[in-house]
Amino acid sequence: MQKIALITGANRGIGKEIARQLAAKHWLVLLGSRNEGAGLQVAQEMPGSVEVVPLDVTQDESVRQAAKHISQTHGHLDVLINNAGIYGPGTLHTMDLGEFRQMYEINFYGPIRMVQAFVPLLEKSDDARIVQMSSGMGSLASVASGGFAAYNLSKAGLNLQTMMLANELAPKGIVVNSMCPGWVATEMGGTNAPRTVEQGADTAVWLATEAERDTGRFFRDRSVIPW
Ligand SMILES: NC(=O)c1ccc[n+]([C@@H]2O[C@H](COP(=O)([O-])OP(=O)(O)OC[C@H]3O[C@@H](n4cnc5c(N)ncnc54)[C@H](OP(=O)(O)O)[C@@H]3O)[C@@H](O)[C@H]2O)c1
Repeated sequence: MQKIALITGANRGIGKEIARQLAAKHWLVLLGSRNEGAGLQVAQEMPGSVEVVPLDVTQDESVRQAAKHISQTHGHLDVLINNAGIYGPGTLHTMDLGEFRQMYEINFYGPIRMVQAFVPLLEKSDDARIVQMSSGMGSLASVASGGFAAYNLSKAGLNLQTMMLANELAPKGIVVNSMCPGWVATEMGGTNAPRTVEQGADTAVWLATEAERDTGRFFRDRSVIPW
C-alpha cells in the first residue's frame, strides 16, 4: 500500500523539499499549507502524488478539519512531519510578550495541536513516525546563546515534547524524533546559509522512511546529536 506523509508548512523552504523528495519516492504526500493557493501552485511542480491540505497549525478548527478530511479520504497516516515554524530575534528580558506567544503558538503549540489531532490516524499505521523539525539553537548547549530567546526556547520545548511523546506513544507503536536541518538557505535561513534545501530535508526524509525505529532522539545529518 502507498505510504502517506503529512508535512506542515510544505509550500516553501525545507518542508517543500521534504514533500518533493517523498513524492519522488512514490509516497502519497499531503502537502500542508496555510495558504491553499500557494500549496496548489507548489503541488503542480511535484514529481508524484501530492494532495494539498489547507492547514494553519495555530488554528484548532483548521487542524480538526484537516484530520477529519484525511480520516475520511485515507483512513490512516504513516508519517507526520511537524515542520512549520517561524524565527525571529529578541532577548528574554526585553521581548514583547505578544511576539513571544506568537512564536510559541506556531513552534510549540502547533506541533502539540497536530499530534493530538493525528495520533488516532497514526495508530492505524504499521510503521508510524513523527518527525519534529527542531534546531540546534534549541539544544541545551545553545539555548542560552543570546539574541533569539523565544525561538531557542520554543525549539528546546519542542525537543522536550519529543522526549515525552516518545514515551507516551511507544505503546501505540508510534516513534517520535527531533532533528536539526543545519543552517539552510530558505526565507528563514537567508542567502548566506551554507546548506541547500536538499541537505536540510535529507534527515527528515530518512527519519520518515528508512531510519531504524529508534525513538526519542535528536538527529542531524542522520546521526544522533546531544539534546
Ligand atoms: N532554515 C534554517 O536554517 C533552519 C534551521 C534550523 C531549523 N529550521 C526549522 O525548519 C523548519 C522550516 O524552516 P524553513 O527554513 O523552511 O522556513 P521558511 O522557508 O520560512 O518556511 C516556513 C514554513 O512554515 C509555514 N508556516 C508558518 N506559520 C505557519 C502556520 N501558522 N501554519 C502552517 N504553516 C506555517 C510557512 O507558511 P507561509 O508560506 O504561509 O508563511 C512556510 O511554509 C522550521 O521549523 C525552522 O524552525 C530551519
